[in-house]
Amino acid sequence: MVDKYNPRLQEQLEDQPLDTQGFERPRDLIDATDEDLAPLLALTQRPVVTANQFTRDQLLQLSRLAARYETQPQMIARPLTGKILISAFYEPSTRTRLSFESAWHRLGGDIMSITDPASTGIAKGESLFDIGEMLNHYGDLVVLRDSNERAVYEMLESLRIPIINAGNGIDEHPTQALADIYALLKWRPLLCLPEVAQEQRIRMGIIGVPKRMRTVHSLLTLLSLFANAISDVVIITDEDDPLSEDQISMIEKKGLCTRVTSDLDDELPALDVVYINTIAWVGDDYEELGSHYRLDLSSPLKPGAIILHPLARGDELPRELDDTPHNWYFAQARGAVFMRMALLSSIMKTFT
Ligand code: CP
Repeated sequence: MVDKYNPRLQEQLEDQPLDTQGFERPRDLIDATDEDLAPLLALTQRPVVTANQFTRDQLLQLSRLAARYETQPQMIARPLTGKILISAFYEPSTRTRLSFESAWHRLGGDIMSITDPASTGIAKGESLFDIGEMLNHYGDLVVLRDSNERAVYEMLESLRIPIINAGNGIDEHPTQALADIYALLKWRPLLCLPEVAQEQRIRMGIIGVPKRMRTVHSLLTLLSLFANAISDVVIITDEDDPLSEDQISMIEKKGLCTRVTSDLDDELPALDVVYINTIAWVGDDYEELGSHYRLDLSSPLKPGAIILHPLARGDELPRELDDTPHNWYFAQARGAVFMRMALLSSIMKTFT
């Protein structure tokens, strides 16, 4: 019988193409790493404001814990029962807000959600410093998205409970980058190894502008911790100076081999991973950067290459790619729930 809401349901049930899209791989990631909870203890009750604060060991252990949550849901014993998340999103969000709230719910906690700053004292001119002081008494952890780069730092001044930066203007989106790393490590667990042979290192393309796109900025920072496993990162943009001075010096210091080019199709045949994003939040609205770059079925993608995208997508990533093995962007978005569970339970020190 054809399901009227999903005519492909029967075909999907029969195909079960899960192993090509990142759903089956968490077990391989668990096998590739040894458990060591010490790096996670350093996150206890700490704020998360920038990707720069994470160590490679923390990324490996967060990914390992996320993989355990993904593969062993029975291990989740609702450790956050009685704890309250304050979910403050002063800018639109589908994935970040809902996956944080899903993660907190799955760990047993309760949530207070603010999606409109005009419904708070901000409408009366109240400072984020004063709002932060109040939040200390109302909840146990704050997740904040704000188009103002300084907002998370202003609230941090008065907060005594942890805060997580869920995107601050064009600056950073550290937990999106954690989700990106989790997808990468599930796809290629050998990236976890301390030594990766030259021929096994991956070549990654990033279509975006690191100095003006928060997802790309934070991802590049975390990728620099895997310089031993990445042969090079190719930044594909038609901007002349897509990297800030700080980013250039960070890349040089960590030894991440990076170059910039404007020709996407010239690079695609040699890329193992293609990360694409065209949206940058600027002020109260978004700006499209490099929107003429586009992937589709005729793109000369390397066989076995995967596509990552933080989403929301536009014309740069048409739906015709969804049913191909290149689609790892849905697995990336799905895995964000488990990575955020790992992060939240580390900050709240409830992991076992
Ligand atoms: N990736 C991401 O930040 O998506 P949202 O804007 O929907 O949260």
